[in-house]
Amino acid sequence: MKFSRRVREIDISGIRRAFEAAGSDAINLGLGQPDFDTPAHIKEAAIRAIRDGFTGYTENQGTLELREAICEKFKRENRIDTTPDRVIVTAGASEALHIALQAIIEPGDEVLIPDPGFVSYNALTLLAEGRPVSLPLSRDYTVTPEGMAEEIRPRTCAIIINSPANPTGAVQREEEIRGICELAEDHGLTIISDEVYEHLIYEGRHVSPAEYTEDVITINATSKTYAMTGWRIGYLTAPTEAIEEMVKIHQYAQACATSISQRAALAALTGPQDSVREMRHEFKRRRSILMNALREMKIECREPKGAFYAFPRIRNAEEVVKQLLQHGVITTPGATFGKEGSEHIRLSYAATQEDIEKAMSIMREVLE
Ligand SMILES: Cc1ncc(COP(=O)(O)O)c(C=O)c1O
Repeated sequence: MKFSRRVREIDISGIRRAFEAAGSDAINLGLGQPDFDTPAHIKEAAIRAIRDGFTGYTENQGTLELREAICEKFKRENRIDTTPDRVIVTAGASEALHIALQAIIEPGDEVLIPDPGFVSYNALTLLAEGRPVSLPLSRDYTVTPEGMAEEIRPRTCAIIINSPANPTGAVQREEEIRGICELAEDHGLTIISDEVYEHLIYEGRHVSPAEYTEDVITINATSKTYAMTGWRIGYLTAPTEAIEEMVKIHQYAQACATSISQRAALAALTGPQDSVREMRHEFKRRRSILMNALREMKIECREPKGAFYAFPRIRNAEEVVKQLLQHGVITTPGATFGKEGSEHIRLSYAATQEDIEKAMSIMREVLE
């Protein structure tokens, strides 16, 4: 069998590889998902959907009631005015990123991507035959208008913003977002704003670019906010002409998001939000435990302001990751997230306090 250059050019995610290489009893500070269970009322909604026979295809863009709830969420939480016809419900934020990049990239177009940044951005850009261009970040790992301006060239078509960010936990400041929006407008660039960690912010305020400018594809998901990674529900809103193009790809590749999960997502968005607050509180507590341990080891690490990752600077990071794995601790080498991530490792604190403490004591031994 012959394979396309497109697919041969991309590699399997380093995160998955590390996970698969480890034993089942390893402490996992590697994967990016909340270690909480999906709240009961959300599960109940899915069970009801199955009992009621809500098991067929839905509208391609998602059920109207879910899209209406998503519009209310965008208005309430993000000051984004949108309508159900400008929303697509997807199979996680992953599919939303995929259809967004497929819709806007012409072969050879350049996409500005934070470096370090979430692994899918490079791979999905390459799959769309685009060219990923690394965006230099500030000392706090945020994208700045100045850094962005340096990388804009004639073939630049889009910029990806991810706040709070994977793998650094950085949160974009409002003035940075405003500046990025102005530059994008001046150069006719689309902003793809990946906001999946928006509810996991410990300092600062979440700001959506779509508050300030129109040419934005705003992507979110129930995955991280409601501990629903396996349910595969994401969603996006964008200007009508972008929706018309993206829905073609979504329709042929996916038909629609899972009907049962859509009912669950509706319960998540419209039901009680206590679980979100509790999860945020717990992550914040674990962040201090992790940061204190790193400080005690005199490891340099910017305090993550959001998400559930810390990104300490470690010399010989790849070797340290290997040794940690041999001692039963899964972490992710920073280079997985871009060349600027080398000499770092990503530690996910979506793990129990006991596991974080155990992992830190193993790390102390390994580094000594
Ligand atoms: C920044 C970021 N965007 C998107 C995703 C994918 O989310 P989903 O599980 O909803 O596809 C992840 C998952 O780790 C992520 O970290």
